[in-house]
Amino acid sequence: MTSFATWQDIQRYVPITGDISTKKPGAYRATRGATTVFNALQMALAESYINGLEIPDGALRSIFDSCMPMLFQHYPALLAPYEWVLHETSAIASGSKDLMKLQYDLPQGMLNLMLGNGELIYPKYSMGLWDRGATTLEQSQRHMMDDMIEKMEIQDGDRILDFGCGWGCVANYILSKFPNVQFTGLNLSHEQCEFMRQKMQDPISILSSGRFTLVEGDLNDAQFGEKFDKILSVGVFCHVGNLTSAFAKLATFLKPNGKCFIHIITVRTPNNVSSVYTHKYIFPYGRYWRFDAVPQCDRDLKVVDRWYLNGANYSETFAQWLQNFDDSCDEIKGLEYGMEFARFRRIWRFYLIWFVSNFASCEGEINGNGQYLMVHTS
Ligand SMILES: C[S@@+](CC[C@H](N)C(=O)[O-])C[C@H]1O[C@@H](n2cnc3c(N)ncnc32)[C@H](O)[C@@H]1O
Repeated sequence: MTSFATWQDIQRYVPITGDISTKKPGAYRATRGATTVFNALQMALAESYINGLEIPDGALRSIFDSCMPMLFQHYPALLAPYEWVLHETSAIASGSKDLMKLQYDLPQGMLNLMLGNGELIYPKYSMGLWDRGATTLEQSQRHMMDDMIEKMEIQDGDRILDFGCGWGCVANYILSKFPNVQFTGLNLSHEQCEFMRQKMQDPISILSSGRFTLVEGDLNDAQFGEKFDKILSVGVFCHVGNLTSAFAKLATFLKPNGKCFIHIITVRTPNNVSSVYTHKYIFPYGRYWRFDAVPQCDRDLKVVDRWYLNGANYSETFAQWLQNFDDSCDEIKGLEYGMEFARFRRIWRFYLIWFVSNFASCEGEINGNGQYLMVHTS
C-alpha cells in the first residue's frame, strides 16, 4: 500500500479533514457537527458586519485570504453547510422564487451599473476572461464569449437556446456576429425579461432583429416546440440541484447531432460547496459543483471535452463589480431594496469582497469556472 493510500484510509476515520463522502459514520457525524459550529461562526462574523461592525475592507479581505485556502485545501467539508449541498436534490432547481426576489429581480438600476451596461455588451453576470490581455470589464466579457463561440463551434444558421439567459448579453453578442443564427433565451427573472423586451423594441439592438425569442419561465417547467443545434448555459447551474434531471431535460431539446455547452462556477475539492451566508442573503440553494460532478452525471448527455478556467479571472471580474458598485452608490441608494440601503450595501459588500478573495485563493486553482461540452449519449 502506498503512503497516499494509507493517508486516504486513515482520513476515513478522522473528522473534518479531507473527503466527507468517504468518512466512516462516526467521523461523518463529527464532521457535520463541526460544520454546524463553523456555520454559526461564519454567520456571527457576517451578521455583525451587516449590523454595522466596522471592519475595514483590508481586514475583511485578510480574514478571507487566510481562511479560504485552508478550507479549500484541507477542510472542504466545512464548506458544505447543509446536506443538500452534497447530494442531488429532487427538483431541478429549488427555491427559484426566493432566488428571483433576493437576487435577480433586484432593482436593475443597481445590477446594471454594477455589471456594466454597454451598447453591445449588456449586463453579464458571469466570469470575464482576463487571461488574454483584457484591460476592461467589457473586453474581458467579449473575450469570454469569443472563447465560448470557438469551443461550441457555432455555425451561422444554428438555432441556439440559452438556458438562463440573463439580460440577453450572450444572445446579443452572438447574433451580432452571425447574421443567420436564431436565438431563444429562457429566464425566470421578470425584471431581466423586461430589459430584453425593451431591447426587442429598440432598433439599435440586435435583439430587435426578429431572430431572438424570449421565454419568461422556470427551467423546472421549460418546454420548447423545437429542437436546437446548440444549447448553452452560463452561470446558471449553481442554481441547479439535480444535474441528472437537468441534463435529461436538455437532451430532449437538443438535435441528434447537437452540442450542449455548460459554463459554471466549480471547485476542485472532493465535495460541492456553498455557504450559510450566500444561502440566506445572496443565492438561496446556490451551490458550486465539484469539477468532476458534471461528467459523472452522464445518463443522457456525455462530456466530450472540458476546461477549467483559473479563478483569477473571476476574482478580477468580482473586483470590477465591487468597484462599480462602490462608484454608483450615490446613484443607486434611493432604489427600493426592501430594507435600508446601508444594510443592503453591507450585505452586498460582504459578498463581493468574499468572492474576490475566494476565486483568488490557492492561485485560482481550486475555485474557478468549469466548461463542459456535451453531446447525446446515444
Ligand atoms: C448568474 S446569472 C447568469 C446570466 C447569464 N447567463 C449571464 O451569463 O449573464 C443566472 C441566470 O439564471 C437565471 N435563472 C436562475 N434560476 C432560474 C430558473 N429556475 N429558471 C430560469 N432562469 C433561472 C437568472 O434569472 C439569471 O438570469
